[in-house]
Amino acid sequence: KDAYSIAVIGGDGIGPEVVAEGLKVLDAVTGSGGPTFTTTDYDLGARRWHATGETLPDSVLDELRGHDAILLGAIGDPSVPSGVLERGVLLPLRFALDHYVNLRPAKLFPGVSSPLDVSRVAPDGIDFVVVREGTEGPYTGNGGALRVGTPAEIATEVSVNTRYGVERVVRDAFARAQARPRKHLTLVHKHNVLTYAGHLWRRTVEEVGAEYPDVETAYQHVDAATIFMATDPGRFDVIVTDNLFGDILTDIAAAIAGGIGLAASGNINPARTTPSMFEPVHGSAPDIAGQSKADPTAAILSVGMLLAHLGLDKEAARVDEAVAADLAERGDAARSTTAVGDAVVGRL
Ligand code: IPM
Ligand code: MN
Repeated sequence: KDAYSIAVIGGDGIGPEVVAEGLKVLDAVTGSGGPTFTTTDYDLGARRWHATGETLPDSVLDELRGHDAILLGAIGDPSVPSGVLERGVLLPLRFALDHYVNLRPAKLFPGVSSPLDVSRVAPDGIDFVVVREGTEGPYTGNGGALRVGTPAEIATEVSVNTRYGVERVVRDAFARAQARPRKHLTLVHKHNVLTYAGHLWRRTVEEVGAEYPDVETAYQHVDAATIFMATDPGRFDVIVTDNLFGDILTDIAAAIAGGIGLAASGNINPARTTPSMFEPVHGSAPDIAGQSKADPTAAILSVGMLLAHLGLDKEAARVDEAVAADLAERGDAARSTTAVGDAVVGRL
């Protein structure tokens, strides 16, 4: 295949700005003779909700299904009540398109500074990936509230963990661990307290692990895992965890690996029956929107992940190398969003 169609959802805040730089890089890396990309913009997020009251219309979802992949900027805006766009756009996309692997690499590139004293706590560097389950856990909206607004109010949020859902993401994590040099997989959960789900995850890792004898496994409670992120992140290779733990851990992971401006992610359906969706881990950052201040590196690295997912390994590697070269010589000088995009294009 040499012609691909990409759906582009710029979204809110800095989303459209960083996505524009990602597309600039996509365009440049696929120049003459290589694969070609056509892009189609979809207007989702705060603007659409204010104008029409819609979040993710079925017609848009249907159209999105027809593309090879989706590139998303950010969804969320302070002018919209909390949860409306998250529950109305982003999560329905992940759920409807069955993005059960939320893949979030944490790699400290040479030249990038970490808030950690890396020479002391991670002398061999930081390079791990979090395989965050993307379709279950407490994100499914199961729960409810009773006697709201009274002193007797009760709110529950039910975490859904199915054997089917846990097994498929655990399998994916084992396969990724096996393909990496260290072949190490850490399950992060909290099975001393969340016993029902915790034991399902633990048993599933044990059982699937029997099929991967060359992959070494470890277990950590999520609270302890945050300590090791700060004190010994080099111990991690692949982490598999549920949707909420993965959300929290990947923000810490981004912080230690150079900041949220560099953190890319893929919402992946490994079965490839639907398009996978690539997005920076960061949000819409309304405080700096429209000022060309946002770092588009995470969006550009997300384009790299998109290319890799489509099997365009050569192009993906070129994007990663161009970003690495830019980061290596970036220094502390502030650059505009477009300047970073131009610099990466210049390195291709
Ligand atoms: C993320 C975000 C989302 C999440 C929110 C916006 C729903 O924090 O992609 O990490 O919790 O998954
Ligand atoms: Mn998050």
